[in-house]
Amino acid sequence: MELTQDYRALDARYYMPAFSRTMKIVRGKGARVWDAEGREYIDCVAGIAVCSTGHCHPAVVKAICDQAHDLIHCSNLYYVPHQAEFAEKIVEISGLDGGKTFFSNSGAEANEGAIKLARLATGKKKFVSFTHGFHGRTLGSLAVTHKPAIREPFEPLEPKCTFIDYGDVEALKRAVDEDTAGVFVEAIQGEAGVLPAPRGFFEEIREICEKKGALMIADEVQTGMGRTGRWFAYQHTGVAPDIITMAKGIASGFPMGALVAREGLEFKKSEHGSTFAGGPLACAAGRATVRVIEEILPSIPTKAERFAAGLAAHNPRVFGLMIGVTVGERCAEAAAYCAEHGVLVNCAADGNLRLVPPLVITDEEIDTAVGVINEALR
Ligand SMILES: Cc1ncc(COP(=O)(O)O)c(C=O)c1O
Repeated sequence: MELTQDYRALDARYYMPAFSRTMKIVRGKGARVWDAEGREYIDCVAGIAVCSTGHCHPAVVKAICDQAHDLIHCSNLYYVPHQAEFAEKIVEISGLDGGKTFFSNSGAEANEGAIKLARLATGKKKFVSFTHGFHGRTLGSLAVTHKPAIREPFEPLEPKCTFIDYGDVEALKRAVDEDTAGVFVEAIQGEAGVLPAPRGFFEEIREICEKKGALMIADEVQTGMGRTGRWFAYQHTGVAPDIITMAKGIASGFPMGALVAREGLEFKKSEHGSTFAGGPLACAAGRATVRVIEEILPSIPTKAERFAAGLAAHNPRVFGLMIGVTVGERCAEAAAYCAEHGVLVNCAADGNLRLVPPLVITDEEIDTAVGVINEALR
């Protein structure tokens, strides 16, 4: 097996340097991964909230392999194996009764779909979203993403978007006008460092959208698929959005995203499409993933409490298995210490340590991870 050091040179020569990385991960099982040198880690990054059922869950591996033997691809010109069944399941877990699903290949693409659907449904053009919000890096999803450093180099962007302080109801009332097609919001801002919406904020957004005829779009790309202890984080609030977008944990690492929209909101013939989206392998992986998460969902609150108790000295923000700790300038140093001691964590924005481990992480693994993180933050 090639060691990291050799691989680094190949990567530096041939791969565009858009990422900063030092390790090469070559194998995973459950909540553990191994690097090219054979070192073992408890993985509290999980592909950034992607490997929901853990690495290489046998049920997901079997579903992908079984489907690969039968049919890898066939085009959306035909009915696709597993697609309608998985769409039904997504509608059921989303709570948008009577709604319909459309699949994509990523979170950004799911948000692109939501932008198009909101424009079609309302006949309006503009969007509103929030400071520190993240919705993707394709041009449309980037237009509703706040972080100036990643957005501004690509301006001018469409759609036009007004950014409001996350939680500022009065500013939101002023920003949503007669030409607003939709409001993009995360229930917990993940890339920002696990920052929750203030209590009652979703209810306020719902009311403002209804008054102005705009759609409420909940971006559950990071918070969805059981991450916070419910299927979707909005389900902790008292209101339902018009559109929910999801990706990351939906198929345990097989590239996939989806949007689900309430009854009456749908793409008609030729209004949207994709060569790969909702393909047989992705849908098979997604169906197996949901079956596994159904079993482990009830255990998430207890695991969350274990993290909360273990990290209590550092005022963690714990929402199921989505955990943020404000560390500040030393964040990268702390993450490096954790890696050296067998635990992978990452730094989201503004010095916030983020933990989004596989939902299958065990109590013993939580205790080990917490011990190392506490040492790193001492
Ligand atoms: C909330 C949110 N929306 C959208 C995205 C974009 O997803 P993807 O990287 O799959 O395009 C991300 C990715 O981190 C995210 O956290």
